[in-house]
Amino acid sequence: MARINEHYAKLPASYLFPEIGRRVKAYAAAHPDAKVIRLGIGDVTEPLAPAIIAAMHAAVDEMGNRETFKGYGPEQGYDFLIEAIRQHDYAARGVDLAADEIFVSDGSKCDSGNVQEIFALSAKVAVTDPVYPVYVDSNVMAGRTAAAGPDGRYPGFVYLVGNEANGFQPDPPGEPVDVAYLCSPNNPTGTVATRAQLEKWVAWAKQTDSIILFDAAYEGYISDPSLPHSIYEIPGAKDVALELRSFSKRAGFTGVRCAFMVVPKAVTGVGAGGERVSLNKLWARRHTTKFNGASYVVQKGAAAAYSKDGLAQTTAQIAFYMENARLLREGLTAAGFTVFGGVHAPYIWLRTQGGASSWEFFDRLLSQAQVVGTPGSGFGPAGEGYFRLSGFNSRANIDEAIARIRRVFG
Ligand code: MLT
Repeated sequence: MARINEHYAKLPASYLFPEIGRRVKAYAAAHPDAKVIRLGIGDVTEPLAPAIIAAMHAAVDEMGNRETFKGYGPEQGYDFLIEAIRQHDYAARGVDLAADEIFVSDGSKCDSGNVQEIFALSAKVAVTDPVYPVYVDSNVMAGRTAAAGPDGRYPGFVYLVGNEANGFQPDPPGEPVDVAYLCSPNNPTGTVATRAQLEKWVAWAKQTDSIILFDAAYEGYISDPSLPHSIYEIPGAKDVALELRSFSKRAGFTGVRCAFMVVPKAVTGVGAGGERVSLNKLWARRHTTKFNGASYVVQKGAAAAYSKDGLAQTTAQIAFYMENARLLREGLTAAGFTVFGGVHAPYIWLRTQGGASSWEFFDRLLSQAQVVGTPGSGFGPAGEGYFRLSGFNSRANIDEAIARIRRVFG
């Protein structure tokens, strides 16, 4: 008889986005003529950039030729991609990384869910609230918490509340913590951490001997040149932070799947005997044991995102989505909503009207405007009363969604 992992019972029955998908499907089935506009899950809509397509086509041809065919690749990623990452994402911003500090993967969702495995079950974890749910759920599954209380919080986490007063950028914890997840530009609030805020976090991690797991999946959406794209732009961060990056939103890879995690060799945890252990070694062991590398064709496509044409084309796509975000911000403001984010991230975070709960607002928006968004409470208790809309869609759908929202709420 196989006993199950009881920690799963502590979670809501369904992950946030499948639950939204289920509700939208039920609505669409009951209203077959409704033209539903989906601004819920942050899924890209523009086709892959021509430079990426050309590189992937060429890679497929290589796979069809005996001389150039590839079987298993290096688990950590092909040199051509790691080199492009080192040069474009890091050296160009003054950050020197060794090739074996970069681990190419098939997505930041997996990396951010898996990384907790290299820490002890007793590790004290801090998360912001609201937060990308994977950080929370993966730690609950591992058994780091008790069941959620009536307030929706899991005893065991340290919650750092992001609210209007702190611009949704909470300070580091004031109590002892081993590991803290940070996401900037932030999903879900669309806000971004300044250099001074990241400096505060790095100083905290150094002082308290803690680790920062920095999720920078949306760094490509930063438009102000004074804002850091990587936590390693902050001196000292290479001693205390791991960084997650993704091609999903920056190069339209949500359906292609490619990402990477940076694990500098200087970042250490503590073994049972008090000895310092490099997290790079642990992650390399985990990665090479449980993963056989992202596919060659996909990595060729990802590397093409750094070519001259690839950069120009993907930058134009990001500008297109950010114009959508600007239109949403303005349209929602004109309809009387208080909105946040959407300037350095594709997400708009809005306060619901009339004190409606996040799910009440979801139902109202779906039934009256046929627009789908994401309830803020799905990202944590502090998201209650808020709602997220994404700028990922065609211009026609964004315009139509704004017009409908203004009709219903304006
Ligand atoms: C989101 O909508 O929050 C993201 O698309 C989810 C993800 O990246 O996994």
